[in-house]
Amino acid sequence: MQIAIDGPAGSGKSTIAKLVATKLGFIYCDTGAMYRTATVMAQRLGLDYGDEPAIMAALKDLTITFKPAPTGQLVFMNGEDVTLAIREPETTNNVSQVSALPAVRTEMVARQRAIAAESDIVMDGRDIGTTVLPNAEVKIFLVASVAKRAERRYKENVAKGIDTPLATLEQEIKARDEKDSTRAVSPLREAADAHHIDASEMTIDEEVDAILKLVMENRSAARK
Ligand code: DC
Repeated sequence: MQIAIDGPAGSGKSTIAKLVATKLGFIYCDTGAMYRTATVMAQRLGLDYGDEPAIMAALKDLTITFKPAPTGQLVFMNGEDVTLAIREPETTNNVSQVSALPAVRTEMVARQRAIAAESDIVMDGRDIGTTVLPNAEVKIFLVASVAKRAERRYKENVAKGIDTPLATLEQEIKARDEKDSTRAVSPLREAADAHHIDASEMTIDEEVDAILKLVMENRSAARK
């Protein structure tokens, strides 16, 4: 079974996707982390974030792997733990540029489909329901207000010791929404058959329950 969860930056997708995957015993794949890892790679190699040929050449030798851990999911780049590095502001501010490169997207989509072919999966991102897994049994489009999303990111940052003013986060979220939804390749778009969930006023438990209910409904419909 495939569950696709898409939505804008900071809508809480990864928290919800992780919990849904744990409840169902499915693998969780964070596709944003894959684009972030490619961005860290470019940064480390001193590549221009728009230099598609150089980034593609470097990507050939790059492995990105996930490992579940009690603290959440760990992300490895060629075996190195980059879980924290991929959340640094330098990465966050440049990942939109790297993820807009068509060849990078083609490569990542192929990798994401290969991961999904291996087991039941919950995958989150921007184009999962529309492009990566168009036949996913359950598709969710998760949204929340800019204010709510900035507030969440602010709290996450404080917990990690990162100090960015709330107003800056709101600006960054708006800028990323704009870039992610207007880019030429695979823009952030709601699939026609996605369930639209506005999480602005919902608790995490309510969101997880709403998705699990859709999964159960899908299973019983499939049995009929
Ligand atoms: O979900 P996130 O903030 O970790 O995503 C990081 C960036 O990667 C974000 O700017 C959008 C992009 N992204 C994408 O283009 N396609 C995906 N499937 C996932 C993320």
